[in-house]
Order: sequence, then C-alpha cells, then structure tokens
Amino acid sequence: MCGIVGAVAQRNIVPVLIEGLRRLEYRGYDSCGVATVTAAGPQRVRSVSRVAELDEQVRTAHFEGVTGIAHTRWATHGAPTVNNAHPIFSRDALAIVHNGIIENYEALREMLRAKGYEFVSQTDTEVIAHLIHSLYKGDLFAAVREAVLQLAGAYAIGVVHKDQPHVVVGARAGSPLVVGYGEGEYFIASDALAIAGSANRVSYLEEGDVCEISLEGVRIADRAGNLVTRESRDVQAYGGYGDTVDLGPYRHYMQKEIFEQPRAISDTIPALDEAFDPVLFGENAAEVFEGIDSILILACGTSYYAGLTAKYWLETVAKIRTDVEIASEYRYRESVPNPRSLVVTISQSGETADTLAALKHAQSLGMEHTLAVCNVATSAMVRLTEFTFLTHAGREIGVASTKAFTTQLVGLFILAVTLGKLRGHVNAEQEAGYLKLLRHLPAALNGVLALEPQIIAWSEEFARKENALFLGRGLHYPIALEGALKLKEISYIHAEAYPAGELKHGPLALVTEAMPVVTVAPNDALLEKLKSNMQEVRARGGQLYVFADADTHITSEEGIHVIRMPEHYGLLSPILHVVPLQLLAYHTASARGTDVDKPRNLAKSVTVE
Ligand code: G6P
Repeated sequence: MCGIVGAVAQRNIVPVLIEGLRRLEYRGYDSCGVATVTAAGPQRVRSVSRVAELDEQVRTAHFEGVTGIAHTRWATHGAPTVNNAHPIFSRDALAIVHNGIIENYEALREMLRAKGYEFVSQTDTEVIAHLIHSLYKGDLFAAVREAVLQLAGAYAIGVVHKDQPHVVVGARAGSPLVVGYGEGEYFIASDALAIAGSANRVSYLEEGDVCEISLEGVRIADRAGNLVTRESRDVQAYGGYGDTVDLGPYRHYMQKEIFEQPRAISDTIPALDEAFDPVLFGENAAEVFEGIDSILILACGTSYYAGLTAKYWLETVAKIRTDVEIASEYRYRESVPNPRSLVVTISQSGETADTLAALKHAQSLGMEHTLAVCNVATSAMVRLTEFTFLTHAGREIGVASTKAFTTQLVGLFILAVTLGKLRGHVNAEQEAGYLKLLRHLPAALNGVLALEPQIIAWSEEFARKENALFLGRGLHYPIALEGALKLKEISYIHAEAYPAGELKHGPLALVTEAMPVVTVAPNDALLEKLKSNMQEVRARGGQLYVFADADTHITSEEGIHVIRMPEHYGLLSPILHVVPLQLLAYHTASARGTDVDKPRNLAKSVTVE
C-alpha cells in the first residue's frame, strides 16, 4: 500500500505535501515522512506517528522547499521505525518514496553491495534508491527509466536528486500514480484526491510509464521509452474532498458513517421506474444476464461477507447457482472456469490488489462477463468490468467498513431481484413487495440506530473482555462474521463467528461464564433451531447477548441479555442486523480507547497482495 505525493513549484510546497499525506492516510499510517531537495542535497523529516505529528515537526523546524516528495507507509519490508520510514536516501544525493513491493530486491541488493553501496534500512525501497543513484549520469528521468527495467514486482515511486533541484521523477507498475497539473506547478500522487485543490487536471499513468515533472512541465515515457501523452481530466471528476471530512457531532468517522447509513442507502436505491431493470447495471445487461447460468463472486474482507450474504439472496430469489471466493485464494488456485458465469467483484475502493488480480485472472480464463459493485466511479475495477453497480455510500474514511457494506448489500439484493425477474422467478406482486422493503429500509435503519444507548451499556461490559463468539444462521451467518470482524479489527478483542449449528463441533469447548456469545436472532425459519443453540450455550454458563427481532419474543433472563430489534424485516433483515454489531464494536473500541478510525496494522485500501 503506502501513499506517495510529490511536487515542483515556485513556492514552499511542504504544506501541500503534508495535506496530500493526510488525504492518503487511508493507504497506510505506520510511519510518514517528507523530503525537499536543494543543490546541497535532500533533507527530510520522518515520524512513526501520524501525519498530524509530522505536520507539527515540520512547522516547528520551519522545514520548507520548492521541490519535494512525501510518503505515508504501510510496512511490508522492515518494521515501522523512523529508520525504515520514507523518503529513503542514497548517499545524501538522492531521495525516494515508494509504494509497492520489489520482489527481486535481494538479488539487486547483492549486486549493489558489490558496487560499494551500504544499506542502512531493512526496506526493499533502498535498493531502488541505490540502483537509480548508480545509473545517474546527470539525467534523473533517464536513470529512472533504466532502473525500472531491472525491477520485478509492483511499484509507484517518486524520486529527487540534488543535481536537479527542480525535478521530480515518478514511475509506476502495479501500483497507481497520477500526474497533476496546476498553475505553473506540477504534482505526482498515488491518488488524485491527494492533490485535488492544488492541481486542476490529472492524468493516470499507465503500466510501465515514467514521468518527469519540472518547472517546464511534464514529460511521460512509456515502458518502451517513447515519449507519450496521457489523457488528462478535470480533477473535479474525482469528487471534492472538503465536505466529507467534517465530523459534525460525532467522535469518530466510523460513528458518523454508521449514522449515515439511512442516507447512503436511500442514495443507492434507484428511481422507482427502474428499480429492478437490468439497464441499472449497464446498457446491454439484459441480453448478457439472460445468457448466464451462474455467478462467481470475488472479494476481500468486509466486501467478501457482502458476497456471502448475496449468495443466499441469489440462490433464493433468482435461483441461480452462486459461488463466493476470497479473491486472494481464487487468483492462485486451479479452478474450472465457466464462460457462462457472471463474475461479480465487490469492492468499496475498487483498488484492492487481490480483487483486481482475481478479476483479471477470471477474465484470462475466458469469463468475459463481469460486474463491479463498487463505491468509487473512477476506480480501476470499474474501468476493468463490463458492468457496474455504483453504491452511493459517499467517501468512507473509517478503516472498518460500515456504510460501504450495507450499500453493497443493497446493490446485491437489487441484482438478485433483477436476475430473478429475468429468469421468471419473481412475479409482479413479489417485485412490489421487495421494492416496498427497499424503500422503507432507511426508516427501518433509523429505528435500529435509536438502540445506541442500550448498545453503549453492553459495550462497557465487552470492553473488559478479551474474547467473544458471534453466532448466526443462514442469511445471518455472514452478518455474525462481519460482527466478529468489526469487533476484532477496532477493539483488538479476539472474536470469531460460527454458524450456530457448528457450535457443538468445537467452539462450545471455549464457552464459560467469561465468554460473551453475541447472537443474531431474526424471526426467520431457523429461529427454533437457533433457540436450541442458545440453550447449549446457557447450559455451559455462557453469557448470551442477543439481538432479537421483536416478534421472536425472546426476553432477557438469567445469562440472556436481549436488545429488541424491530419486527422481522424479511429478506433484507441482514442489513438491519449488522448495524447493532457495528455499534457494539464501535462503542467497545471507543471504551478501550483504541484509535477507532485507524486501527493498528491495518489500512483502508489494500493495494498490495
Ligand atoms: C481492507 C479494509 C476493509 C475492506 C477490505 C476490502 O481490509 O480495511 O474494510 O473490507 O480492505 O476492501 P475493498 O475496498 O475491496 O472493499
């Protein structure tokens, strides 16, 4: 992952670089740093704290410069120490920032050691620094073009050299990089958002491109070394930045985003007349959807759990066989491709490296019909797929996904009903019923959000625990998985989810009075089975914390704590039931004082495999 930003200008560029880093922190936040360059050599400030702290450091030190590069890191090679923080230097002449992983770094390091280069960090990045330094003969653009030919793996880099103090050179392969055009000043960045405001227009570099930005303008060379132009677009196309960063009355972005869900969902539900029309997914979707005989869903993390939920809907409503795979597994295993399958990738960011690679893998196996359910219209995933369903969650800042998840579920439910209609399994009455459920969803969610005070009371007990189990059945098993993921990623409490029927096959051994067992209890066909599983927990002294639909009539008693949800919400019940689990994780983490929006070791957008 990691985020990089660079700039050449005729003004002090450090505040722009720091603001860029702030906007790139979603890509990792283990450490950060900034370097400027003068004819005397590069100078840098680095921190293992957050960008806000780096900002303090540069202000106190009056650290300034007209040409610079900056980095926010998600550690891969080498611990997150100041010494491993970027920018990385080579012989006090050259500085580099790097996003990605160099796979042949060991061989390159030996080759460079033989040439007398000393390595002072544990990073793979340092080999690129020395390699470019060793090839530099007065033209940084040329040296980088030569160097990247020797690199295997994924990279986006920004480089400066003391002998060209008004030049930044960038290059990319596998990791994204954009060039930004301002008024007589130029930028590079991992994401257009980082430089929106300073740059008016941006160009996406293509695989293997190397660029040079200087006061004279921009030069781009392709992998073969030919000078090329890359189409530029108005930076506004990538959305504004300002409005979404205001926390309003909330303590954290995650809390704000949980409460934004009714709005996000209502923005995602299409207009009445096209509610379940294939055209929602793309021009000729009807024709393609009619020809498919199965679905293959590929995703990671929370998006994968959205896929697991969708499997139930697709098989129940559309009666279409659906497989769901973790993208990082699918891309490397031997599978039996079905060209009549619709490949559905689910991703908030549309940039997750494993999901993109899994998509390309499926395409390479001859599965040409692809659909992205995605929150970012300009993302690589949307560009790569035949069809798109855009969720309108708005920018999600908290690393733990909330509103992106529930809007993905809405998109996937719409897909299930659309396919069900096309395949003759949904009649007009059922369609009207599904539409009504969807339209009422934002109001129903508001009812669940009103349970926050009761959930806060529970979270105070959870904050003192080190383990928790989550149980669900059927359509709500993926919701239990998502609840456990939310709790572990932000509160650092070990949490696991099981389909309740599996309890007796192992996890019951863990159940004691000290073990809270969170139970998702909708009033569906599996309720009686679930109640039996709850008794199995009670018989072993386990403490049940149950989110029960009002019409289940499950009530609190010794060892059974109940929060009453609204009445059962039919097939869309998972969207209601995940919300209290998000709130429970949020308030538990908050009570433990963790960094809720930026949990340790994680990142929002995982652009390395
Ligand atoms: C990271 C995030 C998760 C997210 C996952 C997949 O792990 O922290 O919140 O679910 O990546 O990301 P995507 O953008 O593809 O949905």
